[in-house]
Amino acid sequence: MRLSLRQWVASVLVLTQLVHGALCWGKDDHYTVCKIAEGYFEEETIAAVKKLLPESSQGGGDLASFCSWPDEIKHLSQWKWTSAMHYVNTPEYRCNYQYCRDCHDSHMQKDWCVTGAIFNYTRQLMSASVNSESLVHYNLTEALMFLSHYMGDVHQPLHTGFREDQGGNTIIVHWYNSKTNLHNVWDDLIIESALKQYYNSSLPVMIQALQAKLMNGWSNDVPSWKSCQFNQTACPNQYASESIDLACKYAYRNATPGTTIGDEYFLSRLPIVEKRLAQGGIRLAAIINRIFSAKTKLAGA
Ligand SMILES: *[C@@H]1O[C@H](CO)[C@@H](O)[C@H](O)[C@H]1NC(C)=O
Ligand SMILES: *[C@@H]1O[C@H](CO)[C@@H](O)[C@H](O)[C@H]1NC(C)=O
Ligand SMILES: *[C@@H]1O[C@H](CO)[C@@H](O)[C@H](O)[C@H]1NC(C)=O
Ligand SMILES: *[C@@H]1O[C@H](CO)[C@@H](O)[C@H](O)[C@H]1NC(C)=O
Repeated sequence: MRLSLRQWVASVLVLTQLVHGALCWGKDDHYTVCKIAEGYFEEETIAAVKKLLPESSQGGGDLASFCSWPDEIKHLSQWKWTSAMHYVNTPEYRCNYQYCRDCHDSHMQKDWCVTGAIFNYTRQLMSASVNSESLVHYNLTEALMFLSHYMGDVHQPLHTGFREDQGGNTIIVHWYNSKTNLHNVWDDLIIESALKQYYNSSLPVMIQALQAKLMNGWSNDVPSWKSCQFNQTACPNQYASESIDLACKYAYRNATPGTTIGDEYFLSRLPIVEKRLAQGGIRLAAIINRIFSAKTKLAGA
């Protein structure tokens, strides 16, 4: 891998500070976000994505099957430096997020957080799309997989959580009868229970239900979900601000250390989780569509 000295040093530093628990949204969640996005790809996007994806008998041009890749590799020594890119934390239990204050890793390296990474990979894909001769020396396959993955992460409320509890990772609770941490409840357990109780333990059934809601209940909201202030290609700061707001209003509320979380919490939080999955998918599609239509627009202008 092409690691600069700075990255190498950072990766060694990250190695030495082991993180509590998982810091990633579950596999099902990333698959769902990307699967929903695929349904909204424009024609140029479908072609461009297919060209970029790794050839694999299994994947076959399906973005969703590559969306957990950043979680699979982040434990490998040459990729350790990416592990700070999956989240952003706010200091002093603040319920608001600010890029300049919050987007850094634990060694205060600027831009090393989930929103910084989304800006980074959007910029890389955009510059390659607009300028095909391209001074671009980045691996755009990786850029696409990182962008798609981090768009899921930034929509998980506790991936913009408090620094003091590592986004809920150090808050030990009981989820019904089993001991776990709050971060894991939001990464995996809410969705797992929903799959069992409402979707016949089938991820495709859940995805279909979300797609149906996007055509009905949420259809009026979709245009506003897609849009970014100032016509930016991506607006991750907005997504992170929403996440910390939801974290304060729903994730942390009634979930102090030692709490037993059951039906009441599950039933009131599930709609939030489902909406965030849908928003993540819609916005990922919007961003990738903007990236791959940029060239056509310039040529047509
Ligand atoms: C941007 O992406 C490149 C390629 O993966 C990486 O080397 C660099 O560290 C990233 N920078 C940030 C701030 O994410
Ligand atoms: C780009 O990244 C992918 C995934 O890491 C890798 O399989 C592929 O070989 C890389 N391509 C180049 C040209 O380095
Ligand atoms: C639920 O899943 C089982 C096993 O996968 C299947 O046989 C059954 O038809 C499914 N039920 C519904 C209502 O989809
Ligand atoms: C955003 O783009 C639209 C359509 O391309 C344009 O009409 C509008 O003026 C732009 N707004 C800003 C703030 O640039």
